[in-house]
Amino acid sequence: MLRPESPQEDRISTLFWIMFGGCLVGLGVVAAFLLLGWLRRHRPGLPGGGGDNAGSGIVIVLGVAVPIVVLSALFWYSDLHALNATAAPAAGSGQLQVEVTGHQWFWEVRYPGTEAVTANEIHIPAGVGVELIAKTADVIHSFWVPRLARKIDMIPGHPNRIELYARDPGIYRGRCSEFCGLQHANMQLLVVAESQQQFQRWLADMGAPAAEPAGAHANRGRGLFLENACAGCHTIRGTAATGTLGPDLTHLGSRLTLGAGTLRNTTGDLAAWVLDPHQAKPGNRMPRLSLPKSDFNDLIAYLETLR
Ligand code: CUA
Repeated sequence: MLRPESPQEDRISTLFWIMFGGCLVGLGVVAAFLLLGWLRRHRPGLPGGGGDNAGSGIVIVLGVAVPIVVLSALFWYSDLHALNATAAPAAGSGQLQVEVTGHQWFWEVRYPGTEAVTANEIHIPAGVGVELIAKTADVIHSFWVPRLARKIDMIPGHPNRIELYARDPGIYRGRCSEFCGLQHANMQLLVVAESQQQFQRWLADMGAPAAEPAGAHANRGRGLFLENACAGCHTIRGTAATGTLGPDLTHLGSRLTLGAGTLRNTTGDLAAWVLDPHQAKPGNRMPRLSLPKSDFNDLIAYLETLR
């Protein structure tokens, strides 16, 4: 939040420092009076005495008048400086829209007008204001990428909007910031900001159906995926797997993480995840599969082909 990458976050971090500075001054004043009071108990001769009524002036000025002035000024400043500047864009105003749906516990990412679907990773072109539509499939989640934008709640039946903008190419971490159940802490995401050209290539790749698996093992793995419980929850476009409970896996291999930022997307971590999803993410909705070892290896070989 304090290393802003967008005009909105510039405002928010400035506001933070001003509020922080103001609070430090307030704390200093209160601490100074506490110290003075403590000293006067032990050294009655110190200045500031004058009977029981002497304190009422201080209470009225420092306890009532000053807080009213300071808090009103901060309220006015935050409204003027940050709230308006980070307001949601008008519906349909962005040249690019991305629709993010919170699930227990992953993020579904779609680009309206294209076939592209992915999870836990949002690609955007750097330097372009993207209209983000925030939805939820179950409980309330809150979408937050601290370096790019303010938080936005995902409320059942009420889509919210926010502008997502990254000044420079880079990878920005985000997370869910509203408690949404057991794995709330492992509901993370990445925003990948890249050049317009790279983004367009990525979007076209994401919109394509899965490639035909090459090799006997991967082919057998695809059959296992379709026969077992996998296909009931996951979609792999271009196959008969059309489940919608879990993340779309059509281009799983292109993602940087597994389990919404819980594991790195390596062969070892992928195998460990499928073998026991509850090891890394206890309580998540993916069941353990008990497959013979050769079947398991073929299934992983197939998942690895989903680039
Ligand atoms: Cu989703 Cu917390």
